[in-house]
Amino acid sequence: MKLTRRQVLAGLVGLGVAGLGAGGVRYWLGRPENVASHDYELIAAPLDLELVPGHKTPAWAYAGQAPGLELRCRQGERLRVRFINKLEVPTTIHWHGIRLPLEMDGVPYVSQLPVLPGEYFDYDFITPDAGSYWYHPHTASSEQLGRGLVGPLIVEERESSGFAHERTLCLKSWHIDEQGAFTDFSVPREAAREGTRGRLSSINGVSLPTLELPAGQVVRLRLINVDNTITYRLNLPGAEARIYALDGNPVAPRPLGKDYWLGPGMRLDLALKVPAAGTELSLRNGPLRLATLKSLASAQAAGDWPPALPANPVAEPDLSQAETLRFNFEWAALLASPNQAGPARYWQINGQAWDIDDKACADRPIATLKKDGHYIFVLRNMAQYQHPIHLHGMTFKVLDSDRREIIPYFTDTYLLGKNETARIAFVADNPGVWMFHCHVIDHMETGLMAAISVV
Ligand code: C2O
Ligand code: CU
Ligand code: CU
Repeated sequence: MKLTRRQVLAGLVGLGVAGLGAGGVRYWLGRPENVASHDYELIAAPLDLELVPGHKTPAWAYAGQAPGLELRCRQGERLRVRFINKLEVPTTIHWHGIRLPLEMDGVPYVSQLPVLPGEYFDYDFITPDAGSYWYHPHTASSEQLGRGLVGPLIVEERESSGFAHERTLCLKSWHIDEQGAFTDFSVPREAAREGTRGRLSSINGVSLPTLELPAGQVVRLRLINVDNTITYRLNLPGAEARIYALDGNPVAPRPLGKDYWLGPGMRLDLALKVPAAGTELSLRNGPLRLATLKSLASAQAAGDWPPALPANPVAEPDLSQAETLRFNFEWAALLASPNQAGPARYWQINGQAWDIDDKACADRPIATLKKDGHYIFVLRNMAQYQHPIHLHGMTFKVLDSDRREIIPYFTDTYLLGKNETARIAFVADNPGVWMFHCHVIDHMETGLMAAISVV
């Protein structure tokens, strides 16, 4: 594949970029006048965090914070991000869930060359869909996401959504020990099972935070699972909460219910009717508390549930003319044969394991789709571990499952449960070579990824 080297070598002279100064990482936000767009300059750089009191964690951060700066723009507008790499390793940014042109998708050797230390790259694309999205590298992902290179991207609805209050909550469990030092981001024994879990749970980089919310108001909570591995079983006992969107895409509002399973990469937009002042609610993962939501007296008149969010302009697949393709997600069990060259391969899709070190893997797509063709994918999980299956470049509709009741909805990531078979459908309306992978990062890096080509 031919790549244009958009990024420019070092020498950022003249850009007004100071980088790492005495005060740590600096970044600039600018909004050009008279242009309906937003501009950001986003720097990735090392940053010491105090995740464990009294100890330093050598994290990597976007814009001096981990999770990174919340980027915002409006539906249908251009988002322009000048990304500057001040790390000592090559990296890229992928915009998870955004339907954009291939050259902006951040996949190394497919979309672009890696952005080398000291280089920058201009990301520039339209955001067609409103909702909660996020960004992260697509290079050395276990370590890069694990060290903190993850951040929220919020695309606001064209018209006011009716929510007067909102909070973004990025969920991540850090792979660190009691002294704040990083532990292995991927351990073979775990990679071959459910994935390597971190130990310290956090929301927006803080362990067990207390979030203050205005009593009587309806608050939109944008929960984003930026974790490498963990599927959070989210619940909010005693709360009046409704689901408004899944993975960026609106659904008919419905009660949160008992547990919502939010796999890596997935998002949940909840409306919460904040109880009377002084009440505390627990946001939990199963029985474990993640955060305390504390209601504070508010002078504003009580809020009511906003109407459903407007649908995104995603093409509706026509099932009567759709072609069906099958994908089996299998456990390959080539458990660390020590002499085998290259990375471990524990997982495969239709008998093929992705080789994370092979730059040409994407030249051998697992399926080639016709542009504007309609497709049904049958996703079959042959293993007893769940896989959040994610597709780049296009939004798909989840049709049904042999394990659970599905109200069909649009998404970019579907949590395929153990031994589950589910059907998804979409219109292949975005030409390019699109990654199709499990978002448990060490599954992805040990085989569970493929390329889907649309021509
Ligand atoms: Cu969050 Cu390949 O994606
Ligand atoms: Cu993605
Ligand atoms: Cu997986």
